[in-house]
Amino acid sequence: MTETAQPLWDELIIGPTVVTLTESADYGCIPDGAIGILDGVLTYVGPAADLPASPDRLAHHVVYAEGTLTPGLIDCHTHLVFGGNRANEFAMRLNGASYEEIARAGGGIRSSVRNTRGADADHLLAESLPRALDLLHDGVTTLEIKSGYGLDLDTERRMLQTARQIGALTAQTVHTTYLAAHALPPEFDNDADAYIQRVTEWLPILHAEGLVDAVDAFCEGIGFSPEQTRRVFEAAQALGLPVKLHADQLSDLHGAELVTQFSGLSADHLEYTNDEGLMAMARTGTVAVLLPGAYHVLRETKQPPIARMRELGVRMAVSTDCNPGTSPLLSLRVAMQLATTHFRMTPLEALQGATVHAAAALGLSDRGQLKPGLRADLALWTVQHPDELTYWLGGNLLQNLWLAGHSLQR
Ligand code: NIG
Ligand code: FE
Repeated sequence: MTETAQPLWDELIIGPTVVTLTESADYGCIPDGAIGILDGVLTYVGPAADLPASPDRLAHHVVYAEGTLTPGLIDCHTHLVFGGNRANEFAMRLNGASYEEIARAGGGIRSSVRNTRGADADHLLAESLPRALDLLHDGVTTLEIKSGYGLDLDTERRMLQTARQIGALTAQTVHTTYLAAHALPPEFDNDADAYIQRVTEWLPILHAEGLVDAVDAFCEGIGFSPEQTRRVFEAAQALGLPVKLHADQLSDLHGAELVTQFSGLSADHLEYTNDEGLMAMARTGTVAVLLPGAYHVLRETKQPPIARMRELGVRMAVSTDCNPGTSPLLSLRVAMQLATTHFRMTPLEALQGATVHAAAALGLSDRGQLKPGLRADLALWTVQHPDELTYWLGGNLLQNLWLAGHSLQR
């Protein structure tokens, strides 16, 4: 009687190694596993042998699969909405120019601002959507997208609207972040304080339009000072919006510590972060978002203090930082690979960094692991062992993807 009273699951997946990531010290693998899905939520995660009844009595649709099933990947730091590209600057840097020199000469972020301002909504979507699809086809079911190449109200709005549209078109969950404090636009040359004042005035307008999930800034010599960053954070706080920060990427301005003072979700980059900053992050639970793509492309040599983060129990996320300047990186798995080779993260840490810890960096507790009650965002890979997800550098390893229980293949 009780068994027939249960609604049938929409889908039952049987056979793969299920990587639950529910423990911090290992993958939590279930060989010959099974996953039940009802209304976009996981109803069963366990060994196929322990299923409570025969498959046809449990679900409308049964899929037999091989390989490895993980949570859908989460890319918690991207700037993938932008116009044009900066391959020319890449060539200049290979010839010896530095990122900062190019930025100070009016290139860098400002060059992408010119191209983004010049792109109408259709054009911006047409350029940006393929980048989100590239991430999707390598397993990304949730991603964050920042503004920051508009630096005026209209273009910042267009970028955030484009980000929302991408979510509607791909069915990925898109979290939007307002990053108007990314660079100083030319019309405010020599008046960064006046620009920051505008940034704080635009925020409530865009927030009222439902376009802002979080607020970020670039706290750096070529970006904004800690004091200016603080003003942006105060404006976010007044609206109840969470903050995060491009912190200590090229120099130590105590950015990590600053973002913890606002109980920030994450501090990102962190190559130059000092020990006080790390200890503050450990106290507030602020996630360290590591961006090895930018480190790789800029041919940096100063590594973020990974060993110390580990020691202090700071959660580490890994993200593409997909952007036209420092990280034209279109695969989160490649970012994971770079995190292992450049930063010596373990393959387990890299996968946790692209799932459970990335979810925390976005303030999401309903995904990033596989257990009953969580959202059915799943990636099925051809590989036999989860270490292979970081071992292969690129390649097409994805067999299938489920977004809130909807499979790409059905
Ligand atoms: O995360 N550091 C600032 N922002 C980006 C780069 C933006 C750009 O160069 O277009 C980053 O590395
Ligand atoms: Fe970034």
